[in-house]
Amino acid sequence: SLPAAVKIIEVGPRDGLQNEPQTIPANVKIELVDRLSQAGFVNVEAASFVSPKWVPQMATSTDVMAGITRRPGTIYSALVPNMKGFEGALAAGVDEVVIFAAASEAFSQRNINCSIAESVERFRDVARAAKENNMRLRGALSCAFGCPYQGEVTADSVADVTMQLRDLGCDEIDIADTIGVATPRHVQTIMQRAASVFPIDCLSGHFHDTYGQALANIYASLEVGITIYHASVAGLGGCPYAKGATGNVATEDVLYLMQGLGIETGIDLDAVVDAGQFISAQLGRKPASRAGNAIAAK
Ligand code: HMG
Ligand code: MG
Repeated sequence: SLPAAVKIIEVGPRDGLQNEPQTIPANVKIELVDRLSQAGFVNVEAASFVSPKWVPQMATSTDVMAGITRRPGTIYSALVPNMKGFEGALAAGVDEVVIFAAASEAFSQRNINCSIAESVERFRDVARAAKENNMRLRGALSCAFGCPYQGEVTADSVADVTMQLRDLGCDEIDIADTIGVATPRHVQTIMQRAASVFPIDCLSGHFHDTYGQALANIYASLEVGITIYHASVAGLGGCPYAKGATGNVATEDVLYLMQGLGIETGIDLDAVVDAGQFISAQLGRKPASRAGNAIAAK
């Protein structure tokens, strides 16, 4: 049977916006984050303390964190690649630090300029500092289902890096389809493998929708007991180091699915549709959410 409730992490302000070529002012990002927290998300990925030379769009992260109105009960998370990023995140009052590794050696090099083993060494200090400061620690695992640079990624490497993130003390681990290539049976195999080394209720599905499989992959993950999902309002996004990859699955579509399945999310779908309209208007385009556009057209 499917779970009665799921947690949805809204990643639009980070994963969604990080790859936008036009500079988005901090006040627009702040309004987006605030609209999302008010819609009821218990976790909003709001920022990224990475090198501005690598990801210029995230250079406003300190301003964004300073400008938002904190909703009690919402965890604000941010990506942190190293101790320099950690200092920024700590000063900005981030609640949850996200260290991000890859199941693919080639992607690790392109994305964070080091090997998987080197990244785990860097994350050791970040993880310790996060714990010392009573911050939550999440680990993201990119390319768990395929890599744009090396192609195939094995279940063994997923399990191996999941164990390394676990041993760093991660409270939650994201199994990510960075380039949206996975299909449902593959997803179930990988999720079950990850769940053999980390508690299943602390594993999440992070699906990009490049090949239109994300909702099917979420349903497949529900069937094997995954209860945390990442989604991006209006389907915003893409990773700058995964060429051609589109945004995350649209939050509105995920909420519509959950509603239909009778699965509790605690999130106001109409408010998310409005937030999607807001940010898409700022970007000068139509939201990439099927459900969102259908609801807005009513
Ligand atoms: P590097 O060039 O090897 O780092 O980059 P470095 O330590 O040699 O430093 C180079 C310069 O960057 C120095 O400045 C540092 O101070 C600065 P300079 O002396 O030249 O003026 N620097 C920083 N500045 C600000 N904040 C920092 C920071 N660190 C160094 N934290 C590094 C290594 C990891 C920093 C770089 O590769 C980087 O920032 N990568 C980020 C890549 C990224 O953000 N990718 C997208 C997010 S991952 C993703 O989207 C996947 C996910 O959604 C899941 C999925 O879908 O798979 C999570
Ligand atoms: Mg992503």
